[in-house]
Amino acid sequence: MNKIIVLNQKSYMEYNEVLNFINEIKDNIRRDLNVIICPSSIYLPYYKGKYDFKLGSQNVYIKNITGEYTSKSLKSMGVNYVIIGHFERKYYLNEDSNLINLKIKDAINNNLIPIVCLGETKEEKELLRTGDVLIRQLKEYFKDVDVKEDILIAYEPGYSIGTSILPTTSELEEVIKLIKDNIFRKYNCNIKVLYGGSVDETNIEKLNKIKDLDGYLIGKNSSSSAKIIQIMNKID
Ligand code: PGA
Repeated sequence: MNKIIVLNQKSYMEYNEVLNFINEIKDNIRRDLNVIICPSSIYLPYYKGKYDFKLGSQNVYIKNITGEYTSKSLKSMGVNYVIIGHFERKYYLNEDSNLINLKIKDAINNNLIPIVCLGETKEEKELLRTGDVLIRQLKEYFKDVDVKEDILIAYEPGYSIGTSILPTTSELEEVIKLIKDNIFRKYNCNIKVLYGGSVDETNIEKLNKIKDLDGYLIGKNSSSSAKIIQIMNKID
């Protein structure tokens, strides 16, 4: 199966850096991987309809309000995927499960594929609550959602984002199994699970060996064309 790589560029780049990034990466995307680029929304016009990789959004909103953007407006810019429930939006902007659930439904109704982020905090991990937290998030985020095979789930533990601290192989394999089994039991479908949090060119080969892991969500390093090319080249 072709691995999926989601590039969550957040707001790391300024205009000139975006133009350089596009120039350096556009002929180096591996066509046998499924690469989804999620630029800062202000730079979407530079990608629309131009390159072979797929386009995703870092966010969506369920209403037409100031400073946000809707599924329909994203679709009109060539976007097909949207990250929903990212840890940073929960942590810094207090996005709750109800809003995440509404965003998932809105995205699906407008033919956007949600990339739904799940993950526990450092404190929850220390209290051995990872499994409970993930089961609760799955229940709340997908309440009354008709989950289909194309939905992507990204496991991103809060303690791994931007820290260089990764879960162990056995922790990851346990979580992937928990998520896939839970969705299969409830919705009778096989979804794909990605891992996100401090993925880089030094740990990608180890991550690549993890059982049933379908791809990666890459944050900071996704703004460096050199690092992304190295990471892509190390994926089997
Ligand atoms: P990181 O972020 O790769 O910079 O740790 C991942 C993410 O926030 O999606």
